[in-house]
Amino acid sequence: MADTATRKIILDCDPGHDDAVAMLLAWGNPKIDLLAVTTVGGNQTLKKVTNNALAVGTVLKIEGVPFAAGCVNPMVRDVEVAPDIHGESGLDGTELPTPKIELDSRHAVDLIIDTIMEHEPGEVTLVPTGPLTNIAMAVRKEPAIVERVREVVLMGGGYHVGNWSAVAEFNIKVDPEAAHVVFNAGWKVVMVGLDLTHQALCTPEAYAKIDAVGTKPARFIHELMDFFGESYKDAQGFDYPPVHDPCTIAYIIDPSIVETVQVPIDVELTGTLTTGMTVADFRAPAPADCPTWAATKLDQERFWDLIADALEHIGENDYLAK
Ligand code: BDR
Ligand code: CA
Repeated sequence: MADTATRKIILDCDPGHDDAVAMLLAWGNPKIDLLAVTTVGGNQTLKKVTNNALAVGTVLKIEGVPFAAGCVNPMVRDVEVAPDIHGESGLDGTELPTPKIELDSRHAVDLIIDTIMEHEPGEVTLVPTGPLTNIAMAVRKEPAIVERVREVVLMGGGYHVGNWSAVAEFNIKVDPEAAHVVFNAGWKVVMVGLDLTHQALCTPEAYAKIDAVGTKPARFIHELMDFFGESYKDAQGFDYPPVHDPCTIAYIIDPSIVETVQVPIDVELTGTLTTGMTVADFRAPAPADCPTWAATKLDQERFWDLIADALEHIGENDYLAK
């Protein structure tokens, strides 16, 4: 029988074109109970990605969900942003509405801690789709969250490829010390890395599913994908853009869409060429108590159906109307 229970999540993001699609899936799928949206400096400065999150929330008609801004900078290193992929605004390629959502007065780290501690142990899943700074800071500030979180399903890393260096992925490379804290905390971590997300390409077939919805929010996603596609063509030679971040939400909605394997994973902090690499040890079957998992295979057809269903669920919104 299908599992119909809802899943409570906190989305910690840096929108970001693919983060916007993760927000869409988190809000537009009835299986997901979106408890909070928090932001972290990553694809662009904290100020920009926070404004983007509020604007995307306005497009998607998100209501009753607290939004909070988090860490400006990584734990140890200087901030790195990604204008070559996401543009100067962090969300170039479309017109953003003036946000109708107001920010929660709390720091994201406190909102994350409060939300986890207010819920029963095992209820809340953390979904980071940016650098892991807020999550690591939350672990350091309130270690009791580790035992209470059901699992951390993060977009980041990879076991065969990198994109911010030959072997490191952006979210991990920007704040490897934070990633080290998160991967070693002892809670279950599902790494939805590049090996998986490079299968989530916005192909003409995917566009057709989005366009068939025919609403303004669907057009908004289409425009974002156009910009993202050009960036990925120019910067990394992709035919179609890999839409990384919503793969995390797809896994939570239906794990049969994202296959995973249990494998020890750690984060390189001191490599000359490899800092920020997520090192997965596939030499032997993982011990039964190994808390880390890597995503391996995506059911692309069903993934894009979920995106289109979420757009249908949200419906029309004339978000630029005065
Ligand atoms: C990750 O980095 C960001 O550019 C994307 O939003 C995604 O979270 C992919 O490496
Ligand atoms: Ca992201």
